[in-house]
Amino acid sequence: MISAQRIALSLALAGSAFAASIQAPNIVLPASAAANRAAVLDIFTESYAAYTKFAFGHDDLNPLSETFVDDRNGWGATIVDAMDTMHIMGLETLFLQAVNFSSTIDFSKSQTPDTVSVFETTIRYLGGLLSAYEQSNFQFPILLQKAKEVGDKLVFAWVGSNDIPFGEIVFATNTPQIATSNIAEAGTLTLEMETLTKYTGNQTYANFALKAVEHIANLPAPLPGLAAQGIDPTSGEFVGGYVTWGGGSDSYFEYLIKHARLSNTNNNLFADTWHTAVDSSIKVLKRTSTVGNHVYLADFDENTILHIGSHLACYNGGNWIMGGKMLNNQTIVDIALELVDACWNTYAGDATGIGPEAFAYISSDGNFTGGDPITPEQLAFYNKHGYYITSSDYIQRPEVLESNFYAFRATGDTKYLDRAASAVRSFNTFLKTPGGFACLNDVNNVTAPLLDAGESFWYAEVLKYLYLTFDDPNHISLDDFVFNTEAHPFIAPPAKAVYGSPNSILTPTGSFQLKQGPPLPAISPNAKLPTPIPVPPLQL
Ligand SMILES: *[C@@H]1O[C@H](CO)[C@@H](O)[C@H](O)[C@H]1NC(C)=O
Ligand SMILES: *[C@@H]1O[C@H](CO)[C@@H](O)[C@H](O)[C@H]1NC(C)=O
Ligand SMILES: *[C@@H]1O[C@H](CO)[C@@H](O)[C@H](O)[C@H]1NC(C)=O
Ligand SMILES: *[C@@H]1O[C@H](CO)[C@@H](O)[C@H](O)[C@H]1NC(C)=O
Ligand SMILES: *[C@@H]1O[C@H](CO)[C@@H](O)[C@H](O)[C@H]1NC(C)=O
Repeated sequence: MISAQRIALSLALAGSAFAASIQAPNIVLPASAAANRAAVLDIFTESYAAYTKFAFGHDDLNPLSETFVDDRNGWGATIVDAMDTMHIMGLETLFLQAVNFSSTIDFSKSQTPDTVSVFETTIRYLGGLLSAYEQSNFQFPILLQKAKEVGDKLVFAWVGSNDIPFGEIVFATNTPQIATSNIAEAGTLTLEMETLTKYTGNQTYANFALKAVEHIANLPAPLPGLAAQGIDPTSGEFVGGYVTWGGGSDSYFEYLIKHARLSNTNNNLFADTWHTAVDSSIKVLKRTSTVGNHVYLADFDENTILHIGSHLACYNGGNWIMGGKMLNNQTIVDIALELVDACWNTYAGDATGIGPEAFAYISSDGNFTGGDPITPEQLAFYNKHGYYITSSDYIQRPEVLESNFYAFRATGDTKYLDRAASAVRSFNTFLKTPGGFACLNDVNNVTAPLLDAGESFWYAEVLKYLYLTFDDPNHISLDDFVFNTEAHPFIAPPAKAVYGSPNSILTPTGSFQLKQGPPLPAISPNAKLPTPIPVPPLQL
């Protein structure tokens, strides 16, 4: 009726119609969603009650021994990591208690051990504090103040004119430690630091984080867009030439596209490097299993393809859905959905219905056996399921259910709800103990003893993604928030129409010959030495 308002409304609608949206419109939740959401809420409250009883104020609960461990500097990692999940789940009393606790943390020094991981502290503590500050509508400025205390310590990781931060700092003396880092540690700081900049008005934090990513993106990479895993903060050079979407590299790639979305930057380096990495992955790394036609992204080292996958790398499906939508590129979204299916398959095939830490597969060009031949048992399992288990533990990792959440929000297909419901049942059946939810030694053995460990990302990530999968799709919409790699959502500006340059596959900046460097430090205690399987020269 009032024409000015009508014009404003239609302009707003026109704007949103052209924006790159990630979520499918008009998703209707089936009636079963409410019961599943309630089941996730129960798991959260039971887990947190056990943590409160046996471990409150410490980093993590050990549920079998009903004790605690301080492996995140003793600042109460579980409380800070769980805080925004409590708010999202409507657990107001727990949330206020967590705010109270957080307001008393002494970040001037580590409680234990002396050194502080720049990466872990950024994604868990800084991310948790800032997201809780936003989720509670800026009511608790103490959360921002605590975030600033953390940020003012973390900047000591940048030494002299180095672009790449050191991996660890002794907080008590502001001394950086450990000269070798990796691209995940150096390249997963932007979302948190730019959010800290947004609320403090101090550009320093964002500038430090951004110069690390720009430096990595501009280094000659083993494959176009696919940076090597190891990096030396002092020389600024890659260490070795190992390429993976898994641990040690993973969230560098994740944050390339998420930074583009959170900042709406006009600098296309981030979205273009991400697209180049995805393009190279499709051309060089993508493999299809000989059994079941499951789609995986291989690792790559010394011109060798390694047919392995990991729980950590399984975030890639969700990340490719997000980036594919932002680039308006359905090819990428379609492959992403195949990656999501293959990762879910590593849950579906196991006796517990929960996926392993690491797995491998056979494609027409070879296999990977971790230094040992495939055992007859592994081969029999592979012939049934299209993957075989190489590290059988489950340590409350989120990535498979994270990607499943993106797939549901992007498609509205209820098969993703069924998968999430299956995981909830498995968690209740196999992880639940009197002292809280535990970890698994062997995802494929229902009688194997449990692992006496709990992780703060159980509360921050697994249970948040599961809860939101069954919640109103407009609650924490992927079009309004960008999740950090610890599942802490940050408020995003309205999306641009499209991200990246029209011809966004970057010209490779270097040769594909691997740089020779000192051997990589071990990334995962479960990693096994690759058996080289020669492949023909790459056609790029
Ligand atoms: C938080 O702390 C205030 C002040 O110490 C106290 O009044 C309040 O009861 C506490 N709230 C919770 C939920 O612990
Ligand atoms: C911004 O933060 C940096 C890093 O802590 C600090 O050195 C600098 O003094 C701050 N600038 C202002 C204007 O507060
Ligand atoms: C989408 O991305 C793929 C993979 O990089 C690329 O081959 C294709 O040309 C892109 N499509 C469009 C329309 O840009
Ligand atoms: C795995 O690869 C090795 C080396 O190429 C080959 O000898 C072996 O037959 C393969 N195993 C299977 C089960 O395909
Ligand atoms: C499963 O675990 C039980 C208990 O540790 C063990 O006795 C059994 O051999 C395991 N089964 C397999 C197939 O590994």
